[in-house]
Amino acid sequence: MVSLIVGAQWGDEGKGKIVDLLSQKANIVARYQGGANAGHTLVIDGKKYVLHLIPSGILHPHVQCVIGNGVVIDPVALMEEIKMLEEYGINIEGRLFISHRAHLIMPYHKLLDAAREKAASAKDSENDRKNAIGTTGRGIGPAYIDKASRNGVRIVDLLDRKRFSDKLRANIGEVNKLLDKIYDYEQLDAEKIADEYCQFDTQIDPYITDTTMLLHDAIQAGKTILLEGAQGAMLDVDHGTYPFVTSSNPTSGGAATGLGLAPTAISVVMGVVKAYSTRVGNGPFPTELHDETGERLRSIGSEFGATTGRPRRCGWLDAFALRYSVIVNGISEIALTKMDVLDTFDEIKICTAYKLDGKVLKSIPADADTLERVETVYETMPGWKSSLAGIRRYEDLPQAAQDYIARIEQLSGAQVTIVSTSPDRADTIIRS
Ligand code: IMP
Repeated sequence: MVSLIVGAQWGDEGKGKIVDLLSQKANIVARYQGGANAGHTLVIDGKKYVLHLIPSGILHPHVQCVIGNGVVIDPVALMEEIKMLEEYGINIEGRLFISHRAHLIMPYHKLLDAAREKAASAKDSENDRKNAIGTTGRGIGPAYIDKASRNGVRIVDLLDRKRFSDKLRANIGEVNKLLDKIYDYEQLDAEKIADEYCQFDTQIDPYITDTTMLLHDAIQAGKTILLEGAQGAMLDVDHGTYPFVTSSNPTSGGAATGLGLAPTAISVVMGVVKAYSTRVGNGPFPTELHDETGERLRSIGSEFGATTGRPRRCGWLDAFALRYSVIVNGISEIALTKMDVLDTFDEIKICTAYKLDGKVLKSIPADADTLERVETVYETMPGWKSSLAGIRRYEDLPQAAQDYIARIEQLSGAQVTIVSTSPDRADTIIRS
């Protein structure tokens, strides 16, 4: 049985906790896109773990974890994570598998990411229009650009030192011209980078394999497999708020290409939805609140990025965007997170539609400038004004909380089967 967990909003929905929870019954957890731009924070027995690349299933000793071909791997981040897990006494031997087809993030990808963002920000002040995407600066975009332009360096290239060095020299020749002529940055030394990456190769060698065949064999053997999307549907390069998106496909379709898995192998798609909305970086965010309510959501919800520490933009739940996400991903079940953040609000708003020039829209505008202009239509619901802490049964939730959930189900077209009321593993309601 293969299930998929996807972020249904702009990322940071609390997928780490839900994947961790569902990993208890899984044999394999596999990641299919993105890189160290993701940040999954987990609190288990009071201990905090932040994972960027390795699936959060790794915290369960019985689970095998796969990093698929669609992920872009930063050796520095990967080694740091392996070290952190070892320090916590978590054994990953024979439990971590990395696709030999996965692309590597090279030092120049990070430099180019930073240089392009800096150049775009400089333009922002010139013409009062946002050009910078507000990336995480982890080199994700430039790595996927190289992948698509067929200059990418893959894990498999590390096997042959000469071929690897030749490829690197050719790439760095081009990059150095860009760094010098356009961005005025220092030149890179290909041989030094080749040495560093070959050293990395010896460290990760035990984990490299053909993960496509590994997953195929696991499916044949009837294993329980959980696929973990990073970021969120609204940051998808095809279906999100382009160009203010990441460079991969976090939506469920990305799992097929990012793991070499047939779409028909996936039995169920669960969307992780935060009880309100957040977004980091630039780009349209129709329900964003620039007032005291937005501040309250940020401070109660501790809405600061796990990867960059940036304050997240906050707003009410956008059920119109959620409906789109449900359609694009094929979500049938929702895990609703951070409900407790709304405990003290007198009333809670939910966006049910967008209007443009006074007309109600049927679908989300594809163009970012138009999306910036939409008006949001809200419904207001009473808050429950009590703490959800310690509630373990759905029936014990206050009526106003149950009503809010029922409205989310009606508007999104998917059933809420999990409700999370704190970052802790224990504070979760599984609806029977
Ligand atoms: P990149 O993925 O670093 O290229 O960043 C592109 C956009 O995606 C920026 O707006 C980032 O803030 C956003 N982004 C990337 N990863 C995450 C994530 O894990 N959570 C939320 N936003 C993210």
